[in-house]
This record gives sequence, structure tokens and C-alpha cells, in this order.
Amino acid sequence: MRRSKRVDSVKSEYKIIIVDDDQGILDSLSSVLNRQGYLTTQITNPLEAIERVKNEHFDLMVLDYLMSPIHGDTVVEEIRKFNSELYILLLTGYKDLAPPLETIRKLAIQGYCEKSDRFDQFILLIESGIKSISQRRTIQKFSDGLTKILQSVPNIYQLQPIGSILEQILRDLLPLLNSQNAFILMDNYAELSVDSNQSIFKGIGKYSDGVSHFIDYLGHEMMEQIGNARVNKNSLRFSDGIIIPLVNEYGNSIGVIFAEIGQGDIEGGVKLLKLYCSIAASSINNAFLHSLVNEKNDELSKTYGMLRERYMDTIEALRLVVDAKDIYTRGHSDRVSYYALRVSEKLELSDMITEKIRIGGLFHDIGKIGTSDDLLSKKEKLTNNEYDEIKMHTIRGAHILSAVAMFNDIVPIIRSHHERLDGTGYPDGLKAEKISMETRIISVVDAFDAMMSDRQYREKLGLETARKQLKDGAGTQFDSSVVEVFLELTQDFDKFTVELDKYLEEK
Ligand SMILES: [Fe+2]
Repeated sequence: MRRSKRVDSVKSEYKIIIVDDDQGILDSLSSVLNRQGYLTTQITNPLEAIERVKNEHFDLMVLDYLMSPIHGDTVVEEIRKFNSELYILLLTGYKDLAPPLETIRKLAIQGYCEKSDRFDQFILLIESGIKSISQRRTIQKFSDGLTKILQSVPNIYQLQPIGSILEQILRDLLPLLNSQNAFILMDNYAELSVDSNQSIFKGIGKYSDGVSHFIDYLGHEMMEQIGNARVNKNSLRFSDGIIIPLVNEYGNSIGVIFAEIGQGDIEGGVKLLKLYCSIAASSINNAFLHSLVNEKNDELSKTYGMLRERYMDTIEALRLVVDAKDIYTRGHSDRVSYYALRVSEKLELSDMITEKIRIGGLFHDIGKIGTSDDLLSKKEKLTNNEYDEIKMHTIRGAHILSAVAMFNDIVPIIRSHHERLDGTGYPDGLKAEKISMETRIISVVDAFDAMMSDRQYREKLGLETARKQLKDGAGTQFDSSVVEVFLELTQDFDKFTVELDKYLEEK
């Protein structure tokens, strides 16, 4: 059977030394282990074996018991004087010649095995030895990482750029995963007073090129997963990577770490990594809170603008894809955005809220990127499951925009634009008092535009019917004041449409 390269390369990380004064036995044990993918060193003289272990690193020793000039137990006794780590498997000729149990315990011999023509038991013992060595390595890596983090705490109180702290954290965690590539994407607390919607990106390995590379890698599914991990404060595991949310001691999700997963047994590493990340989150949080971080001199500030721009481009591209997915909804998000903007102005809401509403309108259906085309264009009545799938676009959209801080204010609008005042909407069944004015506006104009457009399953309703349905829904589904203002605005619908076209042209 062909062995996979991956398995062999993992096994060849471990160095095995075989000590037996019988060259024939050495040869056969070596060839059995080599066939399994292990690298071996053969030694016939037990005294020489002690010297080799003194000067060279080995993970595991297979040691004959009855040898001259000294027996295996004496070899172990000598080795244990300077090396307590080496995993030792003692080989005995016959059961009655095995050293007593107390000797085995005293010398910390991990196992023993009778010589035999069949090697099944021998291979199993080697495998279990390698497994325990690998676990010990993981724990060692973790404890090294923890020590580094603890050592880095004093540095956090110095004027160290946040970029260096983040980079150090990434470097410390990668050995846990046998990996080279990782990034941190997180909110920038240091700039809280300037703009709370900034994000910081720091990558190492293939992500060290910075933001541009990162955005290229970032598909909508990845964005959704990052947002999902942040919102639900759960880590997400893929075949080749893991996303771990950074949650500070107040339970707030402040960003994520994404790390690729390398080869080898990293299951233990992943568990330890989660613990590591919670420590990292507190360290970062502290760094920001103490505001002693020399952010101004940091290249990260420069890359922030780029991140924002590239992310915005990506989201905009997604929006256009969503609009294009369904010929019936083409231009829908632009119209919803414009209608919402007009309502907001008429209600004399602040510039900040108006801008939020405008952007919310543009991106309210972005989660449909994850809904299948077949479902979006289905002519027949949807089954309950299919309807549930359609409803998911609210949560998906919220996750996609939760990945970076710049959309923080928009996320609730995206998630709740199908809620109804009477609590019968989705996805959360929120009641009136929990639904913001921004969301109420999007909800009314979204419904209006949907009624005014042809659908796969029905023709458009016509202006008067649409206006009547808004009126009928006021107070139960829709906010009455929003409906009133919107009906006023669309009194002369032809004029309103001309204004819309002009707005879209100028955009
Ligand atoms: Fe929607």
C-alpha cells in the first residue's frame, strides 16, 4: 500500500535510536520502522548509546535489555541522570528475563516489549510512544507560548506599537498549529474618540503583504464565517484553518484571529490555542485601554484607509452580484436606499442617522449572496424549509458585515429589516420597542419596492394597491409615522421616480 507523503513527513519528524548488541536484530527492527516511515539510528554498543544521547537529540529509544558490557537498565539509569525526557521502550528476550516492575517504574521506562518474529505489538508500542511524545511537544509549545504572552505583558505598558504586539501574538500561536500563516482582524479601540468604526489588520506569513492580499483572499463565505465567529463568540474550524474570536474579559468580541492549520497532530494545539486567544484578547484589550500605544507612528494607521476602501469595494461588488442574481430585484437596493434617504430627510433625522439608513438600504439584502439562485427564482410556492432558507439572508447579511468594525452601526438594520412591530417578523420576532427607527424606515420602503416590482410568482401590484397595503399594515407591520411620510412623498409618484432617476445618474 502506498503511504501518504503527509503521514511519512510527520513520522520522520521523530528521531528514534535503536540499541541492541545483535546487528541482525538491529537491522530487522530498523527496516520495520523505516517501512512505517520513521527515521532510525542504530547503535550496537550500549556505552556509545549513552554518549550519543548526551550529544544529540532523540525522541524515542528502543533498548535491548540483555547486552554487554552493561544491561539495558544500567543504560537507562545513566541516561536518566541527564535526560528525563527521552521515551524509552525496553526490549526483552523472554518474559522471565524482564526487569522487575519497580525497576521499570523507578527508571521511568515507558514500556517494554518481548522480542518476537511478529512486529505488530512492537509497532503499536512505537505508535503509542510517538503519540505521547507529540502530545508532550504540544503542551511544551503551549507552555512556551503562554510564557511568552506573560513575558509580553510588561511590554504592553511601554510605548510599543500595537502592530508589534499583534505580530508577537501571531508568532507565539503559530507553533501550536504547525503553521506559518495567520492574521488578526480587530476593532481599533485606540482611535475610539476619532472613529469607532476602524479595524486593524495584521498578518504574518503569506498575509504579511498586508491588506490588499488579505482582501483578495476574502470571499463572501470567509467574511460570513468571520462575522459569525464574532457574533456568536464561537471558533469555526475548516479543513485548512481556524477562526477564533477575540473576546475580552467583559465578554465583548473585539476581533478575530484566523490561522491556517499545518500538518501533524494539532488537535491538542487547537484546544490550547483557544485558551491562548482568550489571554491574547485581554492583553490587547489592556493595551488599548491604557492608551499607551504609540499608534500614530504605526504603519497600521496607514493601512487602515486601504482596508476600508478594499473592504467597501468587496461589499459593493457583492451587492451588485446580489442585485444581478435576480432580474426581478435588479436595482432594488439602490431604490430602497434612495427611498429611505428621502424618508429620513423628511423626518429631519440627523446626518449621521440618515447616512446609516442610506447605507443600510444599499446592503440590506447582501445576505442573499448565500441563497441559491434556484430558490430566488422559484415560481412555485416555497416549502417551509425553503422559506426558512430565504429568511436566513438576514442573519447571513449581518454576519458578512460584522467581520469588520466599519459596518457596526449597520448590522442591526440588516438583521432586522424583516421584523414587524407586532413581533411576528423574522429572524428574532422583535417587538416595536426593540426595532430602531432606521430599521422601521428600511422595512417600509423595502416592502413598497417589492410590491411595485414583478415577482416570479406574481405581477407587480400597482401603485394604489401598494400604497393601500402600507396603510393597512401601519401600526402592526409598519411604523405609522414612516408610512405617513412615505405616502406623502410618493403622492406624485411620477415626479418621485424622475427624482430617483436623477439621483441614480449622479451617483
Ligand atoms: Fe430582505
